[in-house]
This record gives sequence, C-alpha cells and structure tokens, in this order.
Amino acid sequence: MVDLFRFPVQVVFGEGGIREIRNFLRGFGKHALLVTGSGPTSRLPAVEQLREMLVREGLALTHFPEIRPDPDVETVERGVALAKAEGCDFVIGLGGGSPMDAAKVIAARLNNEGEVTAWEGVGRIPRRSKPLICIPTTSGTGSEVSWVAVITGGKRRQKMSIVSHFLYPVLAIVDPQLTYSMPPELTASTGMDALTHAVESYVSRKAWEPTRAISAAAVRLIFSHLERACQDGTDTEARRGMALASFMAGMAFTTSGLGLVHALAHALGSHFGISHGRANAVLLPHVMRFNLPSCPETYRELAAAMGMRVEGLPAPRAAEKAVEAVEGLLASLPLPRNLDRLGVPGSSLESLAAEAFLNTRMRSANPRETMLEDLVGILKEARG
Ligand SMILES: [Fe+2]
Repeated sequence: MVDLFRFPVQVVFGEGGIREIRNFLRGFGKHALLVTGSGPTSRLPAVEQLREMLVREGLALTHFPEIRPDPDVETVERGVALAKAEGCDFVIGLGGGSPMDAAKVIAARLNNEGEVTAWEGVGRIPRRSKPLICIPTTSGTGSEVSWVAVITGGKRRQKMSIVSHFLYPVLAIVDPQLTYSMPPELTASTGMDALTHAVESYVSRKAWEPTRAISAAAVRLIFSHLERACQDGTDTEARRGMALASFMAGMAFTTSGLGLVHALAHALGSHFGISHGRANAVLLPHVMRFNLPSCPETYRELAAAMGMRVEGLPAPRAAEKAVEAVEGLLASLPLPRNLDRLGVPGSSLESLAAEAFLNTRMRSANPRETMLEDLVGILKEARG
C-alpha cells in the first residue's frame, strides 16, 4: 500500500503578507497578467499595491478585470489573447475561486495550444504552465493551494473540473486583511465551502494521517471562527482563523479529493447558477447523514473536532452529533437552508442527480458507495 501527499505550493500567510511578493518574483518574468473579478475586487487597493510593488522591482503589470462567477472558456481565451498581446510571462490571480481558477487555466493555456475543453478530467494538460501566483480575497475555495480549476464550457455548458499538477500555483499569498471587506453572506457561503472541503476530505476514501490531521484542524478553526466572522467582519482573529482554515482545507482536499456534496453542488451551479458555497451549505448535512452508516467512527472523530461531546456514546449516535453540529452552525449563519429557497424546482432533481452521478472522481472518493437513486434521495431530503 502506497500513499501520496501532494503539496508543491509555497504559502505566505499573515496580515500584510501581500507585501512579501517582492521576495518571490525573481525568475518569474518581466510582465504579469493580473486576473481579477469584474466587480468590487477589481477596485481593491491590493490591485494598485501590486502594480506599485511590481513597478518598483522593474516589472510591468497588465490588469484583466473581467472574471464573473463561474468563468467560462471564452473569458479564459480573452485573457490568454490579452496576455499574448501584452507579452505577459507570468500570471497573478487575485480574488475568490472564480478569478483564481481562471488565472490557473490562463497560465496553462499560455504554454499549451489546443482546446481547454479537452483538459476536463485528470492529467490532461500536456505541458507546464507559466508561473502563477494566487492571492485569495475570500476564505473558502482553497483554490490557491489546489490542483483543480473549475471552468464552464463544453456542449452542455456544464462546470468542468480540470485537474492537473500543472495547475498548482508556484506561490499562494494568504493575507487575512484582504478578506476584511467581505459582507456577512459571502463570509458565510465561502466559509461553508471551506467546511465542506474539510469534512469531505476527512471522510474521503483517499484520506490518510497527514490529510486527516489537516482536515480536522481546519474543522476546529471553522467551528471557532465562522460565526464570529459573519457577525463582526472586523473581528481580525476570526478573519485570520477562517483564512487559515480555508487554505488548510484546500491543502487536505488536493490530496484526498472531495465527495458527493461537491458532485451535486457542481450540477446545481451548472443548471441554476447557484453559488458554490450556498449549494454546499444546503447539501452538506444531508450528504453527511447519507454517509454516516459507512464510517460512524470517522464521523465520531469529526463530531469531536466540531466541539461535540461524544465520549461514551455508541458510534451511530456519536456520528449523528457531527450532523447536528453542522446544522447548529448553519442555523447561526445568514444562508438559505434548503433547495426550495435556492429556487430549485422539484422537477429537476432527477436530471441534477444524473449529472452528479457522472462525476466518478468524486463518487469514488466518497466513503459510501452511491447509486443514482441515492443522489435523488439526497436531493429530495434537501428540498425542504
Ligand atoms: Fe468547494
């Protein structure tokens, strides 16, 4: 039996960490493409700060502020064209999961010809990417330390997971100060994405000692800090705890993979444009309840990490406490609690389940063997 732990990313963590970028720029190139969202992140002070720091080092920066949620192949190609026209030789992704994922695929496309849609799946990018730096402004996706990028495209306009060790950034800068301006709802939904990463990576069939230790630490951090970060965005300790949890959960899932919550959430995002974090938040307790019988002891450990008292309880009851802990946390957050509230019609559950079922990578990492009707059952439970 051989296990693998992937982690080829250098991480700078801490308040003001963005200023450290100057110490890592040598050898990257002369001209950066900065990829950001088209909304408020495009006007963050960090954008001008990055430009000034690069200019001080004798480097140039071209800003591509066009990434919308769930970026598509066409947007990626516009970024590639701009980078080529301007002579950019490295890429910086600043923002939430969408800009960072787009930056990853732009960096890959700059060194690879061909169709991005042909890269769906694992290990399909032929050659190494241009150097890439990722700087998250939310605490949730973990994209800054993972080898996955989710891009919308293909004939059915579905969310494609592109997975490759050429998608790892060279450097991730996790600066909690960049998350201070997140409103409560975004703090909650991205935080629930981080919790879902931590839980799914903990119970994954590919989890082992180092990933479990990291996933459990992320769970503890989220249960200590998420509610606080939502209630008071100026709580710097809570923001720091969530920033740390987010990248640690990403560090775990890049090795152990994710499960049914993510398979279903991607289908909800593709069909109804539901934000990834909100979809995860609704689905997580229901998928946990489905999975419990397959590994009650693992869920007992999770319940303990969530701060529940489980000593002396029989395994099934102790495992149930993990679901109760997640439901308790959700009750304190400003998020919709069921699929009805997310605007998902009951008539769509079968097709959503069928699409999620095609995700064999996530289905095989999930601890419980899953049939198509199981996915339909989970969605029915989640309807409300
Ligand atoms: Fe996620």
